This record gives sequence, structure tokens and C-alpha cells, in this order.
Amino acid sequence: MDSTHKLVIIVGSVREGRFGPVAAAWVAEQARRHSGFDVDVVDLAAFDIPLALPAVSPKAAGADYPRPAGLARLTEALAGADAFIMVTPEYNHSYPASLKAAIDWHFTQWTAKPVAFVSYGGAAGGRHAVLHLENVLTELQAVTIRDGLVFPNHFSTWREGRPLDPDASRYAQALLGRLAWWAGALRSARAAVPYPV
Ligand SMILES: Cc1cc2nc3c(=O)[nH]c(=O)nc-3n(C[C@H](O)[C@H](O)[C@H](O)COP(=O)(O)O)c2cc1C
Repeated sequence: MDSTHKLVIIVGSVREGRFGPVAAAWVAEQARRHSGFDVDVVDLAAFDIPLALPAVSPKAAGADYPRPAGLARLTEALAGADAFIMVTPEYNHSYPASLKAAIDWHFTQWTAKPVAFVSYGGAAGGRHAVLHLENVLTELQAVTIRDGLVFPNHFSTWREGRPLDPDASRYAQALLGRLAWWAGALRSARAAVPYPV
């Protein structure tokens, strides 16, 4: 089995003037430095993600879930991933509606795969957003990992696309090392035995 894992980094915000792509670019640079991953940055702003879902749930419909054609590349990227990093801001003590919509359009694509979080925001730095995401992803049978990066007040703690904290890279590499471990372990497990549904 190829030892390089497919990592999908999701840019969760779609707001005009957003910081999300800046944070995601730095995370992608860190992931490429780690060398255990084949990195794909998936920006939710590139998709028209409807809020209205079909009558049937993705859990019940499985592979037959009727998604709009415009979501095909998103679905394909999520389905092919061995691991995810969700780059999320905090909006009103939670995560953006764009990210919830992207999550809810999918089900099996998350199953038995590891997810790490990089969050940012004002004073809270996204910690409430991550708590909510952990709860949601547990329902989707994803495996959220303990390591995360939290960037409060990014307006003053980042400059020229990079965090000012000199330890940020070290923390990122620790996160990526553990995410790679989980990606390998769960990929082997999924290949050996289908996850019970
Ligand atoms: C609607 C809205 C609600 C926000 N709520 C919070 C919050 O509850 N806690 C926090 O720390 N920051 C909050 N912020 C600050 C954002 O996290 C910050 O502006 C961040 O840059 C937003 O991410 P984005 O630029 O990728 O859209 C909020 C911002 C917006 C636009």
C-alpha cells in the first residue's frame, strides 16, 4: 500500500474578504513539508452548495444520494481522502454555515477517516467552532484527533501569511505526524474490513 496519504484541507469559510485561504495556504505548506501526504486544498467558495437537501438522507441513500452536478468535484475529493484538516473560523460561537452544508451533503465520505482542525477567529480563536465540529463528525463516524491549532486574533497574530508564533510550525508538524499515523491506521483497517454500517 502506498505510504503517502491523500490529505484534503478544507477551507470552511466563503465570506467576502475572508482569512480562510491565507490560513489554509500556510497549513498546506506545512503538510507538504511533512512529506507523508499528497495535499489537496478544497475551497468551499469554489462550489455552489445548496442549503436545501433532498428528501432522502445521505445516510439512507448511500451511493445513490442525488447531489447537484456542481458538487461532483467536492464529493470526489472527500471520497478519495485518507485524512482531513478543516480550516475553520468561528462565527457566533460555532463554525460557518458553508462548512455545515458541505458536511451534510455527505456521509460515507467521512466514515472511519481522521479529521484535524485548524481554527482561528477573534478572542475565541475558533475553540467553540471546533467543539461543535467534533460533535457533528462523531455522528458521521469520522475520527477527530486530539491535536489542533488555534489562532486567536489572527488580525494581529499573523503577518504576511504566517503566524508570528515561532512555535506554530513545530505544533503543525506534531499534528501532521499524528494525523498521518491515524490516516495509515484507518486506511489499513478500512481495506482489511469494511466499516460496519
Ligand atoms: C458573523 C461573524 C461572527 C463572528 N463570531 C465570532 C465569535 O463568536 N468568536 C470569535 O472569536 N470570533 C468571531 N468572529 C470573528 C471571525 O472569526 C473572524 O472575523 C474571522 O476572520 C472570520 O473568518 P473568515 O475571515 O475566514 O471569514 C465573527 C465574525 C463574523 C463575520
